[in-house]
Amino acid sequence: MNEAGDIPVEEFKRAATRAIDWIAHYFTHPEEYPVLARVKPGEVKAALAADAPRTGEPIDAVLDDYERIVVPGITHWNHPCFFAYFSITGSAPGILGELLSAALNVNSMLWQTSPAATELEELALDWLRQLLGLPEGFEGVIMDTASVSTLCAIAAARHALSDLEIRERGMSGRDDLPLLRLYTSEQAHSSVEKAALVLGIGKAGVRKIPTDAEFRMDASKLESAIAEDRAAGHRPFCVTATVGTTSTTSIDPVPEIAEICEREGIWLHVDAAYAGSAAIIPEYRHVLDGCEAATSIVVNPHKWLFTPIDCSAFYTTRPDVLTGAFSLVPEYLRTSVDGEIRNYMDWGVSLGRRFRALKLWMVLRCFGVDGIAGRLKAHIRLAEQFAGWVDEHPEFERLAPTPLSVVCFRARPQHLEPEGGKPNDAALNEFNEALLRRINAGGEVYLSHTSLDGRYALRLAIGNVRTTEKHVARAWEVIQQESTAAQR
Ligand SMILES: Cc1ncc(COP(=O)(O)O)c(C=O)c1O
Repeated sequence: MNEAGDIPVEEFKRAATRAIDWIAHYFTHPEEYPVLARVKPGEVKAALAADAPRTGEPIDAVLDDYERIVVPGITHWNHPCFFAYFSITGSAPGILGELLSAALNVNSMLWQTSPAATELEELALDWLRQLLGLPEGFEGVIMDTASVSTLCAIAAARHALSDLEIRERGMSGRDDLPLLRLYTSEQAHSSVEKAALVLGIGKAGVRKIPTDAEFRMDASKLESAIAEDRAAGHRPFCVTATVGTTSTTSIDPVPEIAEICEREGIWLHVDAAYAGSAAIIPEYRHVLDGCEAATSIVVNPHKWLFTPIDCSAFYTTRPDVLTGAFSLVPEYLRTSVDGEIRNYMDWGVSLGRRFRALKLWMVLRCFGVDGIAGRLKAHIRLAEQFAGWVDEHPEFERLAPTPLSVVCFRARPQHLEPEGGKPNDAALNEFNEALLRRINAGGEVYLSHTSLDGRYALRLAIGNVRTTEKHVARAWEVIQQESTAAQR
């Protein structure tokens, strides 16, 4: 250790080279790792010392344990055969951005506490706004996750009900508040309802609007729900529409929903956490149709924009309302330039903020717009190809449309086919659940599942930059082999 008690710089350089070499090998030989971790609960902890060391250990000993104990306990989200949930990428420029931002260890709570961090955040988000085709009125802030972006959107929507004075008076101990209603679809992500729990809206304040046969919010049912609620004396205040739902990537009819919100004077928040990135492809710009009329929108670069987790881009046309909801400035955080610049601590819950803009800016610069669009298009093409293989196979079927890079499907083995009549969903659910376990236990690929109208569906999500046709084809082989084996 050096005088500061830290690793001496020369040793740091050597250890950093070891770490970078490890990453390089990891990227070039992903096949050495089972995608889904094979450890049992408690195994990783049991292999490590229960107490912190009294005196510092050499960094090499720590890196040895990282390789020997930690890595086997990792589920490899950055693997080209990770097809679960939404497949993501920690790309090289993103990793370097994380490394440099850790070195600077900046807290971008105020402009003054690191002007470049704030200005890079404004700039990178404005680049992204333009790429998404959103109008200039949308102003952005980087949050950690879409869950927090949505929480902030709903808090701002609640604050927009100025006559209720919730910021000043709170929501408890008063009997003059109507039931506040938030609308979202049955297919919306659980983060919407969670935000309602946090904000005192409660489950009772969330009205889930039914979806159509393609899992999109039924706008006419939204309209009638709002009318019914108004008649009952409730206070509709926010609609959260989804562009790219978690289960099937369905896209709510945002233009129609936006019209309703406009007419009703309701805040429209769009959760485009996964699918928003697709709008960067000119032919897919339409996924965000109608969003120009939204009040806020979230798109996660850490989902389908090659930026390491965490990075969530939140935009609103009403930054005044957002900051009105969140700004609270104690004396020690005042600076002489307040009023001239943006202090991002005023835009959300947390004071301390990581320098996330650096990695996003580096990703956008190094991939370039064409590079990003090309890769996203390739993912969509691979999903279409996979969907085609499913459709052609007599013992598999798709369970939802495939608008983007996620395919929902199930096996329908011959021996479970009834003589005429409807498929036996209970038996098929059991079979497909067991099939997924077998597929994932093999370690070559990792898929996840969902439930669609009571039917257990396997989900294959494509989104890692290193995923190629070879990986998707291998996934399809494994799926077929395991389905055959499961019938023996
Ligand atoms: C549509 C959608 N919205 C929001 C989220 C939550 O994202 P985060 O993990 O960034 O909070 C997810 C997660 O997968 C999602 O699919």
